[in-house]
Amino acid sequence: MSSHGPAIPMTSHPVRGLTGTAHVPGDKSISHRALILGALAVGETRITDLLEGEDVLRTAQAMRAFGAEVTDHGGGSWSVHGVGVGGFAEPEDVVDCGNSGTGVRLIIGAMATSPITATFTGDASLRSRPMGRVTDPIALFGARAVGRAGGRLPLTVTGAADPLPVRYRVPMPSAQVKSAVLLAGLNAPGDTVVIEAEATRDHTERMLAGFGATVSVETTPEGRVITLTGQPELKPQTIAVPRDPSSAAFPVCAALITEGSDVLVPNIGLNPTRAGLYETLIEMGADLVYENPREVGGEPVADLRARFSPALKGIDVPPERAASMIDEYPILSVVAACAEGTTRMTGVKELRVKESDRIDAMARGLEANGVTVEEGEDWWAVHGRGPGGTPGGGTVAARLDHRIAMSFLCLGMAARKPVKVDDAGPIATSFPVFEPLMTALGARLQGPDR
Ligand code: S3P
Repeated sequence: MSSHGPAIPMTSHPVRGLTGTAHVPGDKSISHRALILGALAVGETRITDLLEGEDVLRTAQAMRAFGAEVTDHGGGSWSVHGVGVGGFAEPEDVVDCGNSGTGVRLIIGAMATSPITATFTGDASLRSRPMGRVTDPIALFGARAVGRAGGRLPLTVTGAADPLPVRYRVPMPSAQVKSAVLLAGLNAPGDTVVIEAEATRDHTERMLAGFGATVSVETTPEGRVITLTGQPELKPQTIAVPRDPSSAAFPVCAALITEGSDVLVPNIGLNPTRAGLYETLIEMGADLVYENPREVGGEPVADLRARFSPALKGIDVPPERAASMIDEYPILSVVAACAEGTTRMTGVKELRVKESDRIDAMARGLEANGVTVEEGEDWWAVHGRGPGGTPGGGTVAARLDHRIAMSFLCLGMAARKPVKVDDAGPIATSFPVFEPLMTALGARLQGPDR
């Protein structure tokens, strides 16, 4: 896959405006969960609009390795014939999750209470990311894990033969950890309780309930308390995956900062646990409208209309909003570079352990393009150059991080000079049609062959 193959350098040239309609792919978080819960249900789950990015394809492959029958029917339509809770088989080979932290952490949770052993690995980015955050809680169920220093991949997990239910307070804001514990709780008898101090994306809770599990959520002074009753029989579902708000962020933000732009991004899921970026952009003065707001499958959905916004101003982004926009800080910092004044982002320590250290990757890349950045361990500030004021002209290291690559290609559309990223290959993990989609809007992206 391209994140392991030769680098694909790409240059984004300044353009006069982005216009048209951008149909972004299905939601990555929901796609992983649909495959995993489909694999744990009894019978056939049908999925439409599955994100066919490398991360999700790795999870599909992994579910096959654990014994589910996963079929690609073409055009984003998939089916999963599940093995039932507790029915996972032992994989015959190492499970390679590629670049995907969500994939590996959720799958480790899902197999941790079955009496099987599996070894997990991933690409250089994933092998550098902390796994103690999932191996600690699965040990409470009785699972054992042996990895490299710091619990890093490759990592071998032996699931608990006689799992005990747990009560676990997630020590950092992380939907992946919360989900890993809930998925492990599926095959433990009795109630597993997960407490999160700050609300993170709630797709796992919603989908578990959709598959027929008994799951309750209570908001208490100590946070959200999620209680799952173990050993349910999950009933297969028909799942229409909504479009990904984290992918929509790229055409939306590129339009806001590029003079002459007017872009429509239809059918975007605006679950409040995911919509923090859009709230922030509106506070900054973005010309961003939610058209045709409606409910689809119990989730708020709207068509996003973004136009060039000459009045963008820097703001302080409140730390309590971080979880609802954690994947969007890279592209937000590009918008901040094109705004007047300073944008301060606080309470964002988790950015340091994503596909790359995203504070460092964005700070170095913005500096290479003439933008001043200040940073600390859990905060950073971007000093905006105003609309049309970002010099550009720099080359940026994408560090095997799709969102870093896409963010700087968007900056190049609005900067004075082109912006180059050293490797656009990782974009295929989450947004495989980024290049044709942005090109159709008017972007000028020059890859190695052109
Ligand atoms: C995700 C949770 C977030 C996010 C990731 C997807 C998920 O990670 O950054 O892209 O689908 O649960 P953390 O749980 O590490 O915050």
